[in-house]
Amino acid sequence: MHEICKLLSDGQFHSGSRLGQQLGITRAAVWKKIKKLEQYGVQVETRAGQGYRLPQGIRLLEPELLRAQIPAAVAVHALVETDSTNAEAVRMLRAGDSDFIVLAEQQTQGRGRRGRQWHSPYASNLYFSYAWSVTKGVQQLEALSLAVGLAVYRALSRMGVADLGVKWPNDLLVANKKIAGILVELVGDITDRCNAVIGIGINVNMCAQQDIEQPWTSLQLELQRPVDRNQLLIEVFAQLQQVLLTQFEHGFAPLQREWEQAHAWQGRHAQLCFAERQLAGQILGITESGQLRMLIDGSEQQFAGGELSLRLSSDS
Ligand code: BTN
Repeated sequence: MHEICKLLSDGQFHSGSRLGQQLGITRAAVWKKIKKLEQYGVQVETRAGQGYRLPQGIRLLEPELLRAQIPAAVAVHALVETDSTNAEAVRMLRAGDSDFIVLAEQQTQGRGRRGRQWHSPYASNLYFSYAWSVTKGVQQLEALSLAVGLAVYRALSRMGVADLGVKWPNDLLVANKKIAGILVELVGDITDRCNAVIGIGINVNMCAQQDIEQPWTSLQLELQRPVDRNQLLIEVFAQLQQVLLTQFEHGFAPLQREWEQAHAWQGRHAQLCFAERQLAGQILGITESGQLRMLIDGSEQQFAGGELSLRLSSDS
């Protein structure tokens, strides 16, 4: 299916018989692959006498281009399909790989925070995980997902996304609709050497309504144009390397102010939810180590990430 998509990526008509020749299959088998593409959410136009085309063309991930633009020390593994790039990265680390990016056209079991699913349709969005080796322990890991959120914020801001903000601990929102999420998982022993699997999902060209519980948007919806996921990955990774260098050398503290300036809900009234409990208060900001500061019943309280989630109060 990916092969036929590559052949159709130019947006021109291709006859069934020519596609069949190129792929070494019958016209009936071509038709089956076209149906599969449609099931994966790719819009295909069929015209009698001319064949098939993708009306807007499609830009697939280009591993060679990515390898040429991403520092050579970081290996790039581009997959057509995987369960989850984070899960794939964990398996690769356990098998002895290190310092790599793994990305995929599609995830069948994309993982979100708090056991949620991350919707990952084929050839539509960016799903990647970076295996970052941790040699400095707590300083490198403290507030890591906030730092990563800031890198994504910088990259999307540079593309001209308006109304963009970070939401504690690691969401990216456009006018309160989610555009990107981050999931950091650790592999190894944090008291010794370990790796952080930094998983980033960005809604890029997804436009149709998917079965997603929370309000969402995508870069294409915001910018009114399709976005090339290859260039986006290159830009996000460049920003990621910058914040990770700061994080490595000094920890999160130098990034705290910039994070607060990018904070979508700074000063807003919100509810903090954990287990069965909810606490209402005003969001004051974050500490130098990335804890959430809230004013609750007149006094400041600080909260670490984990299973907490934040919701705006209706009076905010
Ligand atoms: C969230 O906001 O809930 C976090 C979403 C993280 C999604 C990304 S997509 C790439 C990587 N692989 C996964 O399975 N999850 C992360």
